[in-house]
Parts: sequence; structure tokens; C-alpha cells
Amino acid sequence: MSMKLPFFKTKQIDDHKEHKDIENIPNHVAIIMDGNGRWAKKRSLPRIAGHKEGVNAVMKVVRAASNYNVKVLTLYAFSTENWKRPKSEIDFLMKLPKEFLHIYLPELMEKNVRIETIGDFDALPAHTKKAVQYAKDKTKNNDGLLLNFALNYGSRYEIMQAVKQIMTDIDCSKITLDSLDEKAFSNYLYTEGLSDPDLLIRTSGEQRLSNFLLWQLAYTEFWFTDVLWPDFSEDVFVEALHEYQQRKRRYGGI
Ligand code: IPE
Ligand code: IPE
Ligand code: MG
Repeated sequence: MSMKLPFFKTKQIDDHKEHKDIENIPNHVAIIMDGNGRWAKKRSLPRIAGHKEGVNAVMKVVRAASNYNVKVLTLYAFSTENWKRPKSEIDFLMKLPKEFLHIYLPELMEKNVRIETIGDFDALPAHTKKAVQYAKDKTKNNDGLLLNFALNYGSRYEIMQAVKQIMTDIDCSKITLDSLDEKAFSNYLYTEGLSDPDLLIRTSGEQRLSNFLLWQLAYTEFWFTDVLWPDFSEDVFVEALHEYQQRKRRYGGI
């Protein structure tokens, strides 16, 4: 598969024109979409204005990922720690999936995108679950990009749940301790069946994982940008892909 990158606006990418061919596209890209609040603050707007604008950035990256033949896009939308925020902000965030789907589900269908989630889905408000479940059902037979929202997701919780389930399964002889290896363990995580992310992007200049995919990111390439999430664009995504293409992944080898 060889595709041409359309255009480059940044100097860094202009300097690497010989790499225009898009081979070595990451199979799975994960993004920590951060900086909505700061985007709004810079404009003297309430934080929720940043979240609202962030929804459009989600669609921009979905289009780009789909265009470049990325197979899985995992987007960190709400963490288990985000419940610490003011109720009014949480209420707003919990309405966003419905708003996003109301506007974009037809286009997602047209682009053959399948929607899934990772995280503690049951603990979400009923109206959020309803909107997201509808989209999951509607898109379940699509075989294009897998758009995977991390919603009420926390990696430590995920790992702890896996351990508990494994102990239960050992107790009732469903599995044996000896048969438990890394692959078998992975299948107890929300990301069961998915390959690990190849590329992790975090926006807004923060350089931490914030409890995101701790197990799955063991050998992932990280890319950080100061761009605030609502300003994320296809160009920034292409810049990240391009940087990924320059990386040498050694997995401990030489
Ligand atoms: C990311 O933006 C969205 C969520 C975490 C839900 P933030 O709301 O964290 O924005 P900042 O980090 O305060 O700027
Ligand atoms: C991480 O961003 C969670 C999401 C993007 C959903 P936060 O803004 O919550 O992370 P911290 O608090 O800065 O680590
Ligand atoms: Mg933040």
C-alpha cells in the first residue's frame, strides 16, 4: 500500500519530502485529547466551549485516520479521574457523545467506521449509554476504521478488574494458572483482541499518561505536541504520522 501525503505546511515536513510515500502507517493510533479548557481560557470562554470545539477536532482526526488507512483510532475522551471535575462540566461532557453522533453518524456510516468503547460503560449516565450503544449497534458491521472511544476509562481499574476476573476463572477451573501468559492476560482487558497502539499522541504540551493504556503502551512510540486539542487538524496528524515513520522500533533488539 503506497499513498502520497497531500501537502505539508510545516518546515519539518518540508525538509523530509523524500518520505512522502506513506508506507509504514501505524495500525493503531491512540490519542490523549487534552487542552480543551486552556483553549477556551485563552479566548475568555467557559471551559465547555473548548469541549464543544473539541468535538469537531475529533471528526477531523477520524477523517484523516480513515484516509491514511489507520485501522484503529483510540481516543481518550473521559477518564475515571475526570469525575473529580465540577458537576456542571461533567454533565456537559456526558452530553457530547450524543451531540457528536447526532451530527456525524451519517458521515461515519458513509466512511464505513465502526464505533466501539473501552472503559466502565455501565457507570455512564443512561442517556450517554443510550446514544453510544445506538451508534455501536448501527456501525457494528462496518469494516473500515475502528473508532474506539475511551469513556470512563482508567488503566489501573482495567488491570485490577482483569486480575479479579482471572482469579475467579482460576477458582472455577475455567483457566489454569499455568496457562496464563501475556497474551491470555491481554484478553482480560477492555482492549481484548486489539493490537497495541503503535503511536500515542498527546496534545496540549502535557507529557504524562494520566492512567491511559498502561499495559498496552509498553512498546508504543510517543509523540507530544503543544497544539491544544480543539486546534488539532489533519496537518498536525500528518506531522505525527511522519515523525512515526522516522522512528526505529527495536523492541529490545538491536
Ligand atoms: C481534555 O481537555 C478533555 C477532557 C479531559 C475531558 P481538558 O478539559 O483536560 O483541558 P485542560 O487540560 O484543562 O486545558
Ligand atoms: C486526560 O486528560 C484524560 C483525557 C484526555 C480524557 P486530563 O486533563 O484529565 O489529565 P491530567 O489531569 O492533566 O493528568
Ligand atoms: Mg487536561
